[in-house]
Amino acid sequence: MRILLGITGGIAAYKAANLIRAFSEQGHSVQALPTQNALRFVGRATLEALSGAAIDNDMYQDVHEVRHVELGANADLIVVAPATANFLAKLANGIADDLLMNAILASTSEIYVCPAMHTEMWQNPATQANVATLRSRGIYVMEPASGRLTGTDTGPGRLPETEEIVSFVMGKKPLSGMTVTVTAGGTREPIDQVRYIGNSSSGRMGIAIATAYRDAGALVRLVACNIEIPVPAGIEVIRASSVADLDQAMNLPSDIMVMAAAVSDFRIDKPFEGKLPRGEARTMSLTPTKDLIADFAAKNPDTFCVAFALTEDGADVETISQGKLLTKKVSAVAGNSVSSLGSEIGEITLVTKLAVLRESGTKIELGRWLVGAISKTMSKA
Ligand SMILES: Cc1cc2nc3c(=O)[nH]c(=O)nc-3n(C[C@H](O)[C@H](O)[C@H](O)COP(=O)(O)O)c2cc1C
Repeated sequence: MRILLGITGGIAAYKAANLIRAFSEQGHSVQALPTQNALRFVGRATLEALSGAAIDNDMYQDVHEVRHVELGANADLIVVAPATANFLAKLANGIADDLLMNAILASTSEIYVCPAMHTEMWQNPATQANVATLRSRGIYVMEPASGRLTGTDTGPGRLPETEEIVSFVMGKKPLSGMTVTVTAGGTREPIDQVRYIGNSSSGRMGIAIATAYRDAGALVRLVACNIEIPVPAGIEVIRASSVADLDQAMNLPSDIMVMAAAVSDFRIDKPFEGKLPRGEARTMSLTPTKDLIADFAAKNPDTFCVAFALTEDGADVETISQGKLLTKKVSAVAGNSVSSLGSEIGEITLVTKLAVLRESGTKIELGRWLVGAISKTMSKA
């Protein structure tokens, strides 16, 4: 893996040298990127020698290479250790005033942050609010260790040991070797050449689930139906538009299939060729579409299939999801309500044969929760 290691200006910056060695010994390539202040605490020569790569943290050097974009795009994952209080504040607010901040903001890779600072700085409400913001955006923030700090004080704020940081980053990959297909977005059924029956699904939930599976080490394919928001790096994207397209595109051998796309229940019998002219009244005949996830589950009995049940606000999500579990013959049903369509937040009721689980939060948080809940269900089956 290509790791971009950000190092910021705390007393523990010298420990980044051990981290470079540890990641390199595991076969990863490490590009160290210290802040200007980090170089007051650890020598450039040390970082260059251990990482085997030159270090140049000047934003305005080799401008024609647009290095911040290149560094961000070339990283499979980004680790910042140690992360200062200043860095946490800048990242939470999207401040891009040096090469490290620019590279991170320009990247869609997964990000791991390991804060280290005095206990009072760590516990300061400003720092804690910044950490909460970062976590809600899907950034993994490690809890600092407790112990001896600079000088004679002790308490939480110490940079965890190198091995703990490595397992915090790599231990989040329990699904290495697994293949996952996630469908996302909303289908469009043509009425004529320019009009369609669609829905307001943004694709955010499916992208959050795909990202959580990527972070867990799985090989992820996202079948994206009419999605306009960007898909993070490290996820293979297959585009589809109509139910028929989706049916074809999702036909992939997978260990897990998550059907988060909002699929039209109807299609137009005979779409009009060309553009329907204004003026005349028209009658359209709607034909029910195939139940794609039920069909996929029947054809792929070894795949863990998760259907989504979109219910009206106030409906009994659990009972509806239980019903779909039986009729669709899938492994799990994730019930959510119409108000979550297109929103940043939501609530999921996950129904399996073994249990009913519920969680609410941002879609990024729900994606991670769902991946964990599915993994636990699979391990018990
Ligand atoms: C001796 C010394 C030790 C420091 N240790 C830390 C630390 O462990 N954590 C921290 O957040 N800031 C620490 N600071 C303050 C940072 O260096 C300061 O906030 C700086 O602006 C961080 O810059 P950067 O985030 O761009 O690297 C320390 C400062 C000094 C002088």
